[in-house]
Amino acid sequence: MQECLPVGLNNRVSPSSTLTMQAEQNQRLTRIGPATPCGELMRRYWQPAALVEEFDATLDPRMAQRPVKAVRLLGQDLVLFRVDAAVGDGTWALLDRDCPHRGADLSFARYEGDGIRCPFHGWKFAPSGQCLETPAEPAGSTLCSRVRQRAYPTLERAGVVFAYLGPEDSVPPALPAFDAFIAPASHRFAFKGLWHCNWLQAFEVGIDPAHPSFLHRYLEDESLDQTYGRQFRAASVGEVDGQRWPMTRVMRECQSPEIRFEAVAPGLTRLTALRRINDVLTHVRVTHAAFPHTFVIPLSETVTITQMHVPVDDTHTYWYSFFTSFAGPLDQATMRAQRLQHMTLPGYVPNNGRHNGWSFNPEQQRTRTYLGMGEEDINLHDQWAVESMGAIQDRTREHLGQSDKVIMAHRRLLNQAMDAVAAGAVPPMVLDATTAAALQGPDTMDCIAPTDDWAACWQRAAAAKRQAADWLLDSTPVATEPPL
Ligand code: FES
Ligand SMILES: [Fe+2]
Repeated sequence: MQECLPVGLNNRVSPSSTLTMQAEQNQRLTRIGPATPCGELMRRYWQPAALVEEFDATLDPRMAQRPVKAVRLLGQDLVLFRVDAAVGDGTWALLDRDCPHRGADLSFARYEGDGIRCPFHGWKFAPSGQCLETPAEPAGSTLCSRVRQRAYPTLERAGVVFAYLGPEDSVPPALPAFDAFIAPASHRFAFKGLWHCNWLQAFEVGIDPAHPSFLHRYLEDESLDQTYGRQFRAASVGEVDGQRWPMTRVMRECQSPEIRFEAVAPGLTRLTALRRINDVLTHVRVTHAAFPHTFVIPLSETVTITQMHVPVDDTHTYWYSFFTSFAGPLDQATMRAQRLQHMTLPGYVPNNGRHNGWSFNPEQQRTRTYLGMGEEDINLHDQWAVESMGAIQDRTREHLGQSDKVIMAHRRLLNQAMDAVAAGAVPPMVLDATTAAALQGPDTMDCIAPTDDWAACWQRAAAAKRQAADWLLDSTPVATEPPL
């Protein structure tokens, strides 16, 4: 196996089980409300606020009556509504939820197409937040001209409504030209789910390349023709002695990966997990982490998952997954149905959780899955891992090892980024349009490669995948830049 060359963030990480975090440091990393350091940082990025399909009346019949939703994001209560194309511009409006008259909840507002009206005293608000009418006031009152509810910029992309909760005088950044955000509607599918825990522990499971060998282990493999839309069940690219190996077998039989990571652009980190299969073959799993809370992983040979971990408040997180196909169109109905079996709308709340021990089954643990739950729902594995830690993990009690080095690097970067915001500087991945347009990919890969050629081998496989995607006009991978 090739010598591991330290690149980028590797240079500044020295894992040690003796390092412990102070309670104040844990608080700084995890709290995201207004005026907290991490909250100020998170407000520099577009955050998913809702799936567009949450406004689909076939999934939520209430939307046929009134396309208005309560949204909670970064500890703030908001109301999101679709502006009626017949009377407005057909886009979205996102306002603070407490009525500026006397504070009633505007998610119960009357919907008027070009605005919403508070049911308490009838004040009406435009999508801009401007108060348009105060009908209980005396005739000729000009009070409404002096009242404006705060409205937040929105952006619809890849089946998701994004919101920008940054300072009112700031310009929202551009979204990177990631595959997930530029794929055509036929080749993408967005979904989400609620976890009852802090955002950071939710994200840290995604940048932990060691856990799939244990948490997601199946004691037996399934036929490779039953794998559609299901993570780890499909085969890796390549063969071992003429055989296709399902990912479940690779993960199960090769438990201690060599983990490497490097910054390929400021705030974009490539993670490579190398699992030696035999004397001549190595399994290569390539994923990426995009600061502050996105990772990009393979679902299968031709589909990637771009997952964002969006803080609802300090103790709740929505994961948003963007599935992107580099082969044919995605079967969105099947993928949606697979996932809706395990959760309840409209909140996208998992059916299993702490209340029922996450459906733990000791017989399953003994005979079929390493964890003992989630035989048909791999998300439940991660959900248990992050929720069972407690609402906010007490990091003063943890003992990190070498396999946690990416997590340590991310926490370091998070601290640096919070310092940068406090100093008035621009944190990583807050992009201008030019930089964002150049940030393409990032690639993912699960492949079995010759041990002496793994680096070139996965890059060739990734290039072939991109070239086969007819919707990708430019197959240039993310360029390597100097480390952060
Ligand atoms: S509280 Fe909303 S109009 Fe009075
Ligand atoms: Fe996982």
